[in-house]
Order: sequence, then structure tokens, then C-alpha cells
Amino acid sequence: MDIKGKTILITGGGSGIGLESARQFLAEGANVIITGRNQAKLDEAKRLFSSLTVIKSDVENPEDAKVLFEKVVSLGGIDILYNNAGVGSPALNLGIANEQILKNAIYEMNINYFGVIRLNTLFIDMLKSRTESAIINTTSILSLVPALEEPTYSATKTALSFYTKTLRKNLEILGSNVKVFELLPPLVATEMTAQRNDKKMTPEQLVKALISGIKKDQFTIRVGDAKLLYFVSRFFPKLAFNLVNPKKIYASLKQ
Ligand SMILES: NC(=O)c1ccc[n+]([C@@H]2O[C@H](COP(=O)([O-])OP(=O)(O)OC[C@H]3O[C@@H](n4cnc5c(N)ncnc54)[C@H](OP(=O)(O)O)[C@@H]3O)[C@@H](O)[C@H]2O)c1
Repeated sequence: MDIKGKTILITGGGSGIGLESARQFLAEGANVIITGRNQAKLDEAKRLFSSLTVIKSDVENPEDAKVLFEKVVSLGGIDILYNNAGVGSPALNLGIANEQILKNAIYEMNINYFGVIRLNTLFIDMLKSRTESAIINTTSILSLVPALEEPTYSATKTALSFYTKTLRKNLEILGSNVKVFELLPPLVATEMTAQRNDKKMTPEQLVKALISGIKKDQFTIRVGDAKLLYFVSRFFPKLAFNLVNPKKIYASLKQ
């Protein structure tokens, strides 16, 4: 798929992978609109890249989503909807009664899963009407194998991965040309993973792989360790589980 001249909406584009994506899509000649909940982050992104269009909007909020849609219509519409906004919650042992577990799960599901469905449903007719268009859903290496330290987050990404696969097929059945990409990042160095000391990929490397995948119409884009873990999880599921969850993390889950 060509990127040059396309208009792309990146949710959660004010920081991390989203901001790096904005930078690289602009460099590819796309028009870029970003959203986020925090106006200060959006202002800083606009200061860095003056050609960006920034719109404060929370994917969890149905009213925000409708207002966002109307603003995008007034700007001439989009060709690519890139669902990047996502959140994770601090580790909790699911076996210890704690009402925070459900609160975290609802928060993560509302943003990582329902937020994507909300926007896709609003924008699908617009995307179908464009000559060449796409949806990019950001799942995770943890959609393949759950992390004990991020159990409900992993579940949101598996839900999103299944949704993404069926969305792609449903559009194909309709004879639609909307392309559906799934991006599976490994551990990437952003605010979300600031507390983790493991090996991390840079957002720059990840987004390069994303753009290369889009240009080749490679609909499932597994990057770095996500590629390796995919094959290990198919043939050696226990090994894959232990790679994601080494015994050294058990101590932190005992309280
Ligand atoms: N970093 C990793 O290792 C990794 C690995 C696999 C997958 N991912 C996925 O990659 C995506 C980007 O993650 P990241 O690492 O770049 O995280 P990040 O640095 O925490 O950035 C997330 C962005 O999403 C925005 N956001 C969060 N909730 C939102 C909402 N309700 N509405 C609109 N914007 C919202 C945040 O801005 P505001 O707070 O201003 O709203 C922020 O700009 C996420 O979907 C994440 O799950 C990340």
C-alpha cells in the first residue's frame, strides 16, 4: 500500500510509539492527525512537528469519538485509521482477592479493545469509500502468550487480535478493499515499559518495521521477538510461556 499523500489518524499519537509513528508517516509524505487525552502532550507533539493536526480525544469516551469523527469529516476524511492508543495496569496476582483487579481489567478493555471497535465502527464507511485505505490495530507479543505480570492487558490484546482477524475476513467477504493490518510489537522502550529492565526495541525500529510491512501489504506484522515467539508458541507452547514468564518474576507475584 502507498503511504505518500494518504491521511492517517493515529490514536494516542502524543507519545511513545504513536508519536514516533507520526514522525515517520510525516516523513513518508502522509498527512497526520493524532489524538490523545492529554493536551500538553499534544501541544508538545505539535511543537515538534508543526504540520501535525492534533485533536484531544479519548477513545474510551463515546461522545469524544463522535466529535472526533465530525472533525475528521470536516478536515476531508482519512485513508488510514491507526489504532495505537493503549494502556496497561500495574501487576496484580489474580489469585488474591482485590477489587482493583476488575477495575484495571475494565479500564484496559475499554481502551485497548472497545475503544478500537468504537472508532472502527464510526470510520468504516468512510474508509470503504476511499480508493485505497487501511485499519492498523496494535496488538502485542502478549496476544500470543499471556504475561503473568500483565494478565488482563494480555487478554485485551488477544481479544483485539481475534477481532482484527475476523474484521479482515468480514471485509473480504463484503468485497471491500479496506486493508486490515495487525502490528505485534515486542517490548518497546516507551513510558508504558519504563519500569521494565528487560531488552527493549526502540520505537524508531518498530515503526520502520511497521511502515515496511504496510508497503508490502504484509497484513500481520510481527516485529523482533514477536516473530520468534510466534513460532515457539506454535510448536513449544510451554517453552514460550516460560520465556515470557521466567521464574525470577514469581517473587513479585506472591503478595
Ligand atoms: N511499549 C511496548 O512494549 C508495547 C508492546 C506491545 C504493544 N504495545 C502497544 O503499543 C501501543 C502504544 O504503546 P506505547 O508503548 O507507545 O505506550 P505509551 O508510551 O504509554 O503511549 C500510549 C499513548 O496512548 C495514549 N492514550 C492512552 N489512553 C488513551 C485514550 N483512552 N484515548 C486516547 N489516547 C490514549 C496516551 O496519551 P494520553 O495519556 O495523553 O491519552 C499515549 O500517548 C499500545 O496499544 C500498547 O498496548 C506497546
